[in-house]
Amino acid sequence: LRSCAVAPAKTILLGEHFVVYGEPAIVTAIDRFVKVTAREINGDALKIISNLGIGGVFDSEGFRPLSGDSDGMRRLEPVKISAKAVLDYLGISRGLEINVDSTIPAAVGLGSSGATAVATVASVGALFGARLSGGEIIELSTEAERFVHGSPSGIDQSVSTYGGVLMYKRGEGIRRISTPAIYLVIGNTGSQRDSGKLIEGVRRLKDTFPELVGKIIRTAGALADFGIHALERGDVETFGKLMDMNHGLLVAIGVSTEALDRLVYAARRGGALGSKLTGAGGGGCIVALCTQEALGKVALAIQEAGGEVIIANKVEEGVRVWLED
Ligand code: PMV
Repeated sequence: LRSCAVAPAKTILLGEHFVVYGEPAIVTAIDRFVKVTAREINGDALKIISNLGIGGVFDSEGFRPLSGDSDGMRRLEPVKISAKAVLDYLGISRGLEINVDSTIPAAVGLGSSGATAVATVASVGALFGARLSGGEIIELSTEAERFVHGSPSGIDQSVSTYGGVLMYKRGEGIRRISTPAIYLVIGNTGSQRDSGKLIEGVRRLKDTFPELVGKIIRTAGALADFGIHALERGDVETFGKLMDMNHGLLVAIGVSTEALDRLVYAARRGGALGSKLTGAGGGGCIVALCTQEALGKVALAIQEAGGEVIIANKVEEGVRVWLED
């Protein structure tokens, strides 16, 4: 018996970083997925194999690599943490083989780590017949996100769990937003970055300039509130303008880069309704909101500016789980 779970990636449309400080953010699940399968094996080791060419075994002795580079342990650790969290929660001690198959580019702000944690939790839970609620999945995947991020807001796990377009507020959870059709183009600068370090950088800036940065954070929160109303009344044009402004605030807190700005401006030149960096910044991706007619032009503009284009469609469904013989 094997248990499979598929969870979607995400792109943050408004409010990253500020969400860590309790402001609302708007996020959508997108049609890039990670699939995690789990089955029982003899003993009590956790054997983890990823389609990125890394694999290894965690047991009482520590970590034994099976394939891939020396970085394997650090990269597989979040999967181990998620699986362990579920086993401990269910009071079970078993050996598992876990396979991770991801089409989400890693470490570029599309939530690959959150989606992997969610899919791992859901899959291991289902293997032992546990019907985990959304809240339980999010809770049990938090420790792995903490390992990756330091201080995750919970937004990534929430959107991978529930899917759709969501308003997320730390401590309050989610509210589903019904939106008109939205057309997104993602541009990847191709440089990976460390979300934890970027979040820490913002924290330091806030410690140095508490009042100023506090005001920027509150402004971003007000902006996200405007954004929720705009989306709910189907006003994507206003939403685009808010994305532009939000990028400005992200520049102000120091998380953009020249490469990101180049793609942001290229998308606008190509006719996007709005564009901004998405995720933690420091590299990674931008997201542009477009009309359906402008999609091709915006994609071309991003490509000409050196970005890898990802056309992303929102998906309504969150993590899905099933059992196979
Ligand atoms: O870049 P990502 O996918 O790791 O997204 C991070 C989003 C932040 O708001 C910067 C952090 C968080 O946990 O909310």
